[in-house]
Amino acid sequence: MKKIIINGGKRLSGKIKIDGSKNAALALIPASLLTKDVVTLENVPDISDIHEMLDILNILNVSYEFIDNKLTIDSSRIINTPLIKKNIEKIRASYYFMGALLSLFQNVQIIAPGGCKIGNRPINYHLNGFRKMGINVNEMDNVFNMSYVILNNTTIKLPFPSVGATINLVLAAVKSDNIIIIDNISCEPEVNQVIDFLKSCGARIKKIGHNTLIIIGTAKLKGTTFKVMNDRIEAGTYCILAALLGDNLLIEGINKHHLNSLFTILDKVNADYFIKDNIAYFNKSNLNNPFEIETSPFPLFPTDLQQPICVLGSFLPGQSIIYENIYEDRIAHIKELNKMGADIKIFQNKIIINGRTPLFSNKLKAKDLRGGAALIIAALSAKGTSLIEGVNYIERGYPNIIQKLSNVGADIKMEDS
Ligand code: UD1
Repeated sequence: MKKIIINGGKRLSGKIKIDGSKNAALALIPASLLTKDVVTLENVPDISDIHEMLDILNILNVSYEFIDNKLTIDSSRIINTPLIKKNIEKIRASYYFMGALLSLFQNVQIIAPGGCKIGNRPINYHLNGFRKMGINVNEMDNVFNMSYVILNNTTIKLPFPSVGATINLVLAAVKSDNIIIIDNISCEPEVNQVIDFLKSCGARIKKIGHNTLIIIGTAKLKGTTFKVMNDRIEAGTYCILAALLGDNLLIEGINKHHLNSLFTILDKVNADYFIKDNIAYFNKSNLNNPFEIETSPFPLFPTDLQQPICVLGSFLPGQSIIYENIYEDRIAHIKELNKMGADIKIFQNKIIINGRTPLFSNKLKAKDLRGGAALIIAALSAKGTSLIEGVNYIERGYPNIIQKLSNVGADIKMEDS
């Protein structure tokens, strides 16, 4: 079992470079199957979730090469085979094969997606959208059978701007003979990446106003080379760490527009940083104000940074409050932070952080990806030696994290026993 061992309390200096976006790349891989031509994706992060996705390509008889963050996909010999093996359940993004394979073969058999246990994560918006398009959806023992009955021109209004449902419906619609309108779409940058990618393959997708898409089906899409944007959540995680421990610490490869909601909070708590081009420069901060946050769809504060920013709250005077509006159970990190000396209470979706409390090292267990990142930040900020289990969760989304942190002076290592 892998463990991360951290001797905390050290200031961090130097440069951390951000990798490509996990959630964008995870959607772009199934999207790449919509053309029989070769697709090259650049800046793909080398993380376990991507390797899980590549394993699914093996099942589908799709060839690929993944070297130095460049992924070349050739799906000219793709076969439609049931995706019901247990490993497909491991990741959330496996649901994108629903839309992609429906587009290619008009039918698909696939097991329900998995992902981090952070709440009840239904896919009813995806399924109801498919049904509205004329797709027959049956479920038995967690396996979905879907096929086209007749495909309708239709307008689908999502009840909530879901990232997954928006992308999945676009994938299902983009090669049809029909005109599909999707309303109340997610405006997350990862969704825009998929739209831009498909357009570069020749798809006809038009954004009307802020949150409506019109998709005019195009039978044949062509190959392309596309650069995955950098990961705004990886960047945000390291910026939160830098606000706590940075002393001439640079975070390189950020897009400020993707993280405005975080930088507003860092301004409020008096973090000492400035941004030039795509680099955030952090000095030693004198953090002195609590914050109040509501997690919400983009451009508001992302739920994926709720867990890392809880740690920051413990180092601020007064009471910081977070309303977790997206996932009711994204709270596994709180018990662990309280073990370290934090004073965090939860009332329904309201997280109350009473600061300032020094954190002390402890034996910790990550139970999900971003919660694991929060524990790393906490252990780096706490005096003494902490041990973190559940490393497999962290490896799902933070490429090369041990090396990146060691390079800036963290006393961190991984052991595999
Ligand atoms: C994606 C991201 C995840 C991120 C989340 C929110 C991937 C692989 N995962 O997850 O890292 O935390 O966006 O930014 O990209 N909902 C329903 N029914 C549905 C779909 C969603 O009720 O059919 C609800 C969810 O339970 C949640 C909210 O809508 O409360 C948002 O979910 P959604 O945006 O779909 O998140 P994911 O695509 O699962």
